[in-house]
Amino acid sequence: MSHPDSSVSASAATPLADRFFRRGAEFLGCRYPVICGAMTWVSDPNLVAAVHAAGGFGCLAGGNTPPEILERQITETRERTGNCFGVNVIVIAPAYKAHLELIRSAKPPFIIFAGSFPHEREVRQVKETGAKVLCFASTQSIAERMIRYGADGIILEGSESGGHIGHVALSVLLQQVLFTCADKVPVFVAGGVGTARMSAHLFLMGAAGVQLGTRFAASTESCAHAKFKDMFLRAEARDAVSTPQFDSRLPVVSVRALRNKGHEEFRKLQLALVQQLEAGTIRREQAQMEVEKFWMGALRRAVIDGDVEHGSLMAGQSVGLVKCIESVAAIMNDLVTGTEAELQRVKATLA
Ligand SMILES: Cc1cc2nc3c(=O)[nH]c(=O)nc-3n(C[C@H](O)[C@H](O)[C@H](O)COP(=O)(O)O)c2cc1C
Repeated sequence: MSHPDSSVSASAATPLADRFFRRGAEFLGCRYPVICGAMTWVSDPNLVAAVHAAGGFGCLAGGNTPPEILERQITETRERTGNCFGVNVIVIAPAYKAHLELIRSAKPPFIIFAGSFPHEREVRQVKETGAKVLCFASTQSIAERMIRYGADGIILEGSESGGHIGHVALSVLLQQVLFTCADKVPVFVAGGVGTARMSAHLFLMGAAGVQLGTRFAASTESCAHAKFKDMFLRAEARDAVSTPQFDSRLPVVSVRALRNKGHEEFRKLQLALVQQLEAGTIRREQAQMEVEKFWMGALRRAVIDGDVEHGSLMAGQSVGLVKCIESVAAIMNDLVTGTEAELQRVKATLA
């Protein structure tokens, strides 16, 4: 991982990497197919603009943002990026329907469906606005279904990643999805990607690009509280653990975060909700909504208020690779020039 003072510039010649970058860069309309994944409360217009300025592709986090605020963020981001950015909407968020309405009028260039998978008609409606659609895939069947629904690209995310996660490790998904779907649509790979060397090998395997969250969350331009970033610097990969599902009557999407009291409070909430389900005092959909509200609130407490004890410290296992706070430009420099260096090394090995 590079040091903030890295003297290597992303403008250095990267002839081999450029060949591998071409498909994803043309698809996204940016210089390098390196996506800073949307992170609720973290991915604001400032972070997205910094990623764009460094040649990458940033995504605004819809999260549960009130539509009027998200609309202002879209306008600001459009101005600062020349209309090259994505908006991430969470299918299971309470504000999801309102966000879909907003997309119809605000017409951002890319929509990323996250959290769960969208209905086919929702994909169609978004595409009718002229937007390109990216969908997350955490299993082979979801990837195939999303392509059938009309997704223009796939974000293949392994269970190592931070935030809401699937259950399958990236190593298996690469074989099930990347190797079978990359000739149909561009596949961007996420989850546990922290270094240029790893990125280079993902490009060699057929990825159109890579998506990182955790490393960018700890960047200088990330609005996350200093205490939140400090926890990232101190954490080991094994500290980023996923939440269990206690009862099949209350299906929950697992979340990966650093272990703390907030993590334990989620266990208590789940048990209380299961009891209410048993007593018939709450419906399943209501209980699931309570779970999502919990995460939105807990993440805010940690990211914005700096309550690292009771808030949610969502982080991927790649947190173990984050050793210093770097600017977005330094991260991008490292990823781009390091990818070139690794590809050159592989080429020399083969020769
Ligand atoms: C603090 C945090 C919040 C996140 N919030 C979202 C989100 O709102 N929407 C989403 O699609 N992914 C979210 N993610 C996942 C990232 O966009 C990205 O896919 C993931 O972090 C990649 O794995 P990595 O953490 O190993 O880099 C979040 C991740 C983190 C660390």
